[in-house]
Amino acid sequence: MNDIDREIESDIKFFDASEDTAYEKKEGDVYILAIESSCDETAAAIVNNGREVLSNIVASQIDVHKIYGGVVPEIASRKHIKSINPVIEEALLSAHTSFDDIDAICVTYGPGLVGSLLVGVGEAKAIAYAKNKPLVGVHHIGGHISANYIEHKDLKPPFVCLVVSGGHTNIVEIKDYGEYRIIGRTRDDAAGEAFDKVARTIGLGYPGGPKIDKLARDGNKDAIKFPRGHVDGAEYDFSFSGIKSAVLNYVNGCNMKHEEYNKADIAASFQEAVVDVLVTRTVKAAKELGYDKVVMAGGVACNGALRAGMDQACKEAGLELFYPSPVLCTDNAAMIGVAGYYEYMKGVRSDYTLNAVPNLKFE
Ligand code: KG4
Ligand code: ZN
Repeated sequence: MNDIDREIESDIKFFDASEDTAYEKKEGDVYILAIESSCDETAAAIVNNGREVLSNIVASQIDVHKIYGGVVPEIASRKHIKSINPVIEEALLSAHTSFDDIDAICVTYGPGLVGSLLVGVGEAKAIAYAKNKPLVGVHHIGGHISANYIEHKDLKPPFVCLVVSGGHTNIVEIKDYGEYRIIGRTRDDAAGEAFDKVARTIGLGYPGGPKIDKLARDGNKDAIKFPRGHVDGAEYDFSFSGIKSAVLNYVNGCNMKHEEYNKADIAASFQEAVVDVLVTRTVKAAKELGYDKVVMAGGVACNGALRAGMDQACKEAGLELFYPSPVLCTDNAAMIGVAGYYEYMKGVRSDYTLNAVPNLKFE
């Protein structure tokens, strides 16, 4: 067995991202068992009434994927199969509950990697059938947005949300619970993907977002002027392929001239350019469409400069800003339990034909 096989076969490591609660289920409480496996995190959570997280278990696969510098879909599926049952058992145990108390099973069915999604969807269908519970398929992006309802108990739609993750960059209008309309999208790379690729270019490793965030604190954000990509005629859309190439060209140029380059300055200047377009376009959309609340979601919403930049711009524009704690920004199942709860309460049900939809859209 080589190192990589050993890592794949290694013991499952997970953590509980919720506080320990000794909660007694009361009359009228609705317990959701949520399952998330769309990319490289195997996750299960128990959520009460769409707002209270009783357990939130995440088994991350980062240790194996970072050997390759990115997520390897085939390995991700194998790891999900290995982790899913222990993760669900731990979610029930940590919430001091059992299948008997669960009112519905909610599962991410897209968008994401097909092999990864299939593990969660298959598991959720098996539990729903064996335990005779309702099944609800949940949109992954709707989950990211709904993560905000966990810590901000008074937050209610309508609002505008900037969703920034490894696979998605969207400005979304949320008119009511579960009612989403995309008004801005990336035409090429997602913001998180750009962070990961630039990190690789300057030799920081995977996942690059947190590494750039950290290194940028020691750099000068005005050192290099990287381009702010825009899309003609689509004022809320994004393009990050130009800045990614600009960083690559800058590094290649330095190498050819045998000049040293300052990684911290590159990280800070790149991050500044990305944050600038994300903040400007989101605030513009909120103001022009008449919203008074701005929300952020997804892994890149952990970014320190993005949080600070959006904080300042929203204050100046008189907008209220919300974002989740870092552990609820990246992939987790609690957010799926929240989004799923509102679907369940609206009467949405999936049947046993529920399938993984890798390119699932909102509309
Ligand atoms: O939401 P997420 O866990 O997975 C997807 O649904 O894609 O997002 C992962 C992405 C990765 O690209 C990662 O580099 C980025 O979020 N990320 C960050 C930070 N933390 C995670 N990007 C910038 N700054 C961060 N602090
Ligand atoms: Zn995600």
